Amino acid sequence: MLLTGTPFLFLLPVAKKIIITIDGWSSCGKSTLAKQLAKELGYVYVDSGAMYRAITLYFLRNNVDLGEKKEVKQALKSINLEFIYNAKSNNSEIYLNEENVEYLIRDLIIAEKVSDVAAIKEVREFAVAQQQKMGEKKGIVMDGRDIGTVVFPKAELKIFMTADNAIRVERRFKELYEKNPNITIEEVKNNLEMRDYIDSHREVSPLRQAKDALELDNSNITPQQQLKLALEWASQKIK
Ligand code: DC
Repeated sequence: MLLTGTPFLFLLPVAKKIIITIDGWSSCGKSTLAKQLAKELGYVYVDSGAMYRAITLYFLRNNVDLGEKKEVKQALKSINLEFIYNAKSNNSEIYLNEENVEYLIRDLIIAEKVSDVAAIKEVREFAVAQQQKMGEKKGIVMDGRDIGTVVFPKAELKIFMTADNAIRVERRFKELYEKNPNITIEEVKNNLEMRDYIDSHREVSPLRQAKDALELDNSNITPQQQLKLALEWASQKIK
């Protein structure tokens, strides 16, 4: 007997949707893993770092003085952030006040300021409230620095990623060099070290490994191997 259209439809098993958080140091490959996981599971992927980068872009364009709380609060009122899926790039891209800034926010100029902006309490409250709203229906993979500790402390699966410093620098260098061949490895190294320091030493929501997070060191494994491992962890939680 066909159940479709009958009042028994609700009895059919529906895959349980969970929240997956991926935190870790800069350039550990968090977004690569998060995107792959979301694709495999049919989940939404959210790059929380893109939100802090887009806010930084707005602050730079509008000369917002980071030391002036009133100015920061006022500026945040004028910021609207949205993620819109782009079928061509197969990626959710970030829009700042209806402008696609996905490409602009990856520049080193933004990377040099973003950790200072992300350390501001009001900025974090602004971003975290929106991130929590995005996770209300679950079925989401979000990467960042405080996702498992602050944004979704009750997430079913928390992953904390690490990789050797030299490997991370090389990965980021390759990425940035494609856009800007004048960039030096020293610049990239200094920027990574500075961001990791500020991100893990700030007063509000510093980068920490959640107690219940599973650690994934991807220094010596391929993206395919790391995806396999994360999928195993996810399927244990979804069961
Ligand atoms: O992941 P990313 O490199 O794009 O992040 C940019 C910066 O934003 C990073 O230096 C720290 C900050 N960030 C944060 O403080 N909290 C998050 N959840 C995500 C990013």
